[in-house]
Amino acid sequence: MSNLLNIAVVGCGGIANGKHLPSLSRLKEVKLVAFCDIVIERARAAADKYGASGAQVYEDYRELLADETIQVVHVCTPNDSHAEIAIAAMEAGKHVMCEKPMAKTAAEARRMVEAAKRTGRKLTIGYNNRFRPDSLHLKQLCEAGELGDIYYAKAHAIRRRAVPTWGVFLDGEKQGGGPLIDIGTHALDLTLWLMNNYEPRAVLGQAFHKLSSRENAANAWGPWDPAKFTVEDSAFGMIVMKNGATIMLESSWALNTLDVKEAKCTLCGTEGGADMEDGLRLNGEKLSRLYKHQVQLDAGGVDFYDGKKESMQDTEMRLWIDALLNDKEPVVTPEQACVVSEILEAIYESARTGKAVYFD
Ligand SMILES: NC(=O)c1ccc[n+]([C@@H]2O[C@H](COP(=O)([O-])OP(=O)(O)OC[C@H]3O[C@@H](n4cnc5c(N)ncnc54)[C@H](O)[C@@H]3O)[C@@H](O)[C@H]2O)c1
Repeated sequence: MSNLLNIAVVGCGGIANGKHLPSLSRLKEVKLVAFCDIVIERARAAADKYGASGAQVYEDYRELLADETIQVVHVCTPNDSHAEIAIAAMEAGKHVMCEKPMAKTAAEARRMVEAAKRTGRKLTIGYNNRFRPDSLHLKQLCEAGELGDIYYAKAHAIRRRAVPTWGVFLDGEKQGGGPLIDIGTHALDLTLWLMNNYEPRAVLGQAFHKLSSRENAANAWGPWDPAKFTVEDSAFGMIVMKNGATIMLESSWALNTLDVKEAKCTLCGTEGGADMEDGLRLNGEKLSRLYKHQVQLDAGGVDFYDGKKESMQDTEMRLWIDALLNDKEPVVTPEQACVVSEILEAIYESARTGKAVYFD
């Protein structure tokens, strides 16, 4: 592969403009050559701001995929089209970064894993919270065995009143669910990755539609329309892994609590534990609180993969491009992301049936 990658972005909305495009445009190994959105003005606006000279715009992603000079496609559309576009892109010979969650359903996620294997293309999922300084630091400590055997964990994705009212986040058909699949997915991904445990045995879950029917509710992004709020407002799950390790996953966009924490986890191991918190900083960087034998440790500095200070978005994109250019496994593998999707779907199924879901 040459040292310059031609990249296309499909879906030029919030996450494309908030993460992919600014971070990719800072990398010298990248040329942003094509932009697609069903709302063509959004593709044009992104091409004007971030495109290389001669960049193309498309309304239909299938036309974009016919361009053989494109090597990489970033999928930034709502959840219901992740699998379709990612699989078509890999079949057209492109490597793919797809936004989280991997797909709307676990079956689609499994098809994406299969397509990556069949085509030999690289596939990664946008779990950017792994690339925060505190996450990277904690990962190193977990790998070094500082926490010992992690047998209990909590995955936190709790907002008090922050229901996303733009786009299609409240539309179950497009997204596959509410806060569980939207933000619970980040917290669960982070927790499984830090535990390095991808073997669930059983899941029990519950989902609520308690606050979604409120009219004119106070909300960070303005009141929601109860008629359109068809997904859950909160969901909770207990996940027991094959080795007995247990995870409590909590997710909400609206819950009456002051204990708000998003994309954080608590890890309890035989040798120590860690609580990810906001507001604890060392050299200006967020830190996790680390405990060893109940004594708070000084984390002793924040380590980066290569000692550089950069945002999680820039780190995510830099390591993805590095994986492509140097034929490495991406930090977020499709197999890992697929397990996240399988567990989330099991929580929804358990909530629907009232029964635990067992993995064989
Ligand atoms: N990593 C994160 O933290 C994070 C944050 C926000 C959103 N996301 C994910 O990103 C995805 C998009 O979310 P968003 O907030 O950017 O939504 P958005 O509604 O702002 O943008 C989505 C864009 O995709 C376009 N689109 C829809 N279907 C398309 C298709 N078939 N072909 C081409 N374009 C199409 C829409 O017109 C829109 O411009 C979701 O899967 C979401 O879960 C991830």
